Amino acid sequence: ETPKTADLIVFGGTGDLSMRKLLPALYHCDRDGLLAPGTRIIAMSRGGLDDADFRGKVDAEVRSSVPVDDAGDRGVWQRFLDRLHHVTIDISGEDPTGWQRLGALLAGHEERDRVFYLASPPMTFGPFCREANRAGLVTPASRVVLEKPLGRDLASARHINDEVGEIFHERQIFRIDHYLGKETVQNLLVLRFANAFLEPIWNSLWIDHVQITVAETVGTPGRRGYYDHAGALRDMVQNHLLQLLCLVAMEPPARNDRESIRDEKVKVLESLRPITGSEVDRFTVRGQYTAGESGGVQVPGYLDEPDGTPPTEASHRVETFAAIRAEVKNWRWAGVPFYLRTGKRMPYRCSEIVIQFKDVPHSIFPGSAPNRLVLRLQPSEGIRLHIMAKEPGAGEVALKPVPLSLSFAETFSGRVPDAYERLLMDVLAGNPTLFMRRDEVEAAWRWIDPILREWESQSMLPEPYPAGTSGPAGAHELVDRSGRAWHEEDPA
Ligand code: BG6
Repeated sequence: ETPKTADLIVFGGTGDLSMRKLLPALYHCDRDGLLAPGTRIIAMSRGGLDDADFRGKVDAEVRSSVPVDDAGDRGVWQRFLDRLHHVTIDISGEDPTGWQRLGALLAGHEERDRVFYLASPPMTFGPFCREANRAGLVTPASRVVLEKPLGRDLASARHINDEVGEIFHERQIFRIDHYLGKETVQNLLVLRFANAFLEPIWNSLWIDHVQITVAETVGTPGRRGYYDHAGALRDMVQNHLLQLLCLVAMEPPARNDRESIRDEKVKVLESLRPITGSEVDRFTVRGQYTAGESGGVQVPGYLDEPDGTPPTEASHRVETFAAIRAEVKNWRWAGVPFYLRTGKRMPYRCSEIVIQFKDVPHSIFPGSAPNRLVLRLQPSEGIRLHIMAKEPGAGEVALKPVPLSLSFAETFSGRVPDAYERLLMDVLAGNPTLFMRRDEVEAAWRWIDPILREWESQSMLPEPYPAGTSGPAGAHELVDRSGRAWHEEDPA
């Protein structure tokens, strides 16, 4: 399908997300011929830049992160720069001149798809929509993209959804979770629903437990302003990890379309057993990294990360690691724990889903171990099924778990597009399947809220763990208690 000409208006357009993710993704799309001639990218910020300043900034800061290798690429790069504009904006409603300038830029292009991408803090979503509407810029063909975090608890998420919902219809609202744009995350649906052999064993009869790990080696230098008030539970679990859990646990949808998949995900979220009150201590763990060694270098602890501001009371309380033992209360999953964990400054970067099968009902060999299916989302995407095999030899039968291994890089050649490329193109094509519906976001918050409340009411601080280690002792106890262990395998 030929792409339609669109105006993509990015609020927060000079910010970190825009410079690091959105603009490189858009450049790649342009290079692949996915942006129609005439499509414009209009950054809005408080920055006071004009078009030339903004193009210069992008040329200086983004060009080195994308391949602009040959003469052909240089042509595309120039074409890409020519698409860029900048408008200085004030969303407080006091200074309308920015809106007037944007209005002038958009005038005469009302028939185009118009996308407002809000890459800004959530409290700006409502005011932005209100002002855009007041300036008469919201056309029937408009869409709005909301970046995470969508609020900081259920009440604020509802409030934002209400405010945005006053201006935009639900079908015009695209709530982004960039994990859903990752190739391997989409592959999970293909693995489950385009292969017949897994479905009969994808349940509590055969599966002992599930682990979902998103481990990062990065810390949070320079992000304290955001992170102090977010923490791992809000920043990662409420969205990315719960989305992964949904894709693992959901029932087969009737169709691969916008509502069927999202309907099934909501059902999973609504089946999560609430963790409240004293259970929070039993089923959740929070940690904060202290100084340690990461990637062969000494790194500071969270509280000593270089940042413009000194740590506050909130800095001491915020978790950079979270682990939870969750349960999906339905026929398929009754009694199967879903262990979730995520942390900064872990020993290696690795996002993976581990399906741990039950052991054979009766073993005739010594030393057998249950099968394990590992879906590696990043880095080195792949699928490994650990099966038991006989070690060659004429003596006594000796068993060894060996992996049947699929590496996406070896199997499929070509560049793997970044999640944002896929998602931005879906927004431009008006396809919301990979975006979160209002009820989904709110169901996720409803489950997270009691944990947050309990954590916030406790005087106890998060458990410390040295940078470069796999989280606090409590995270290991969480699984040890039932005789289980975290899957630890360095992807390198
Ligand atoms: C973001 C979080 O949503 O996801 C960051 O705000 C985190 O804290 C990032 O580092 C991880 O994304 P990815 O794609 O690098 O796994």
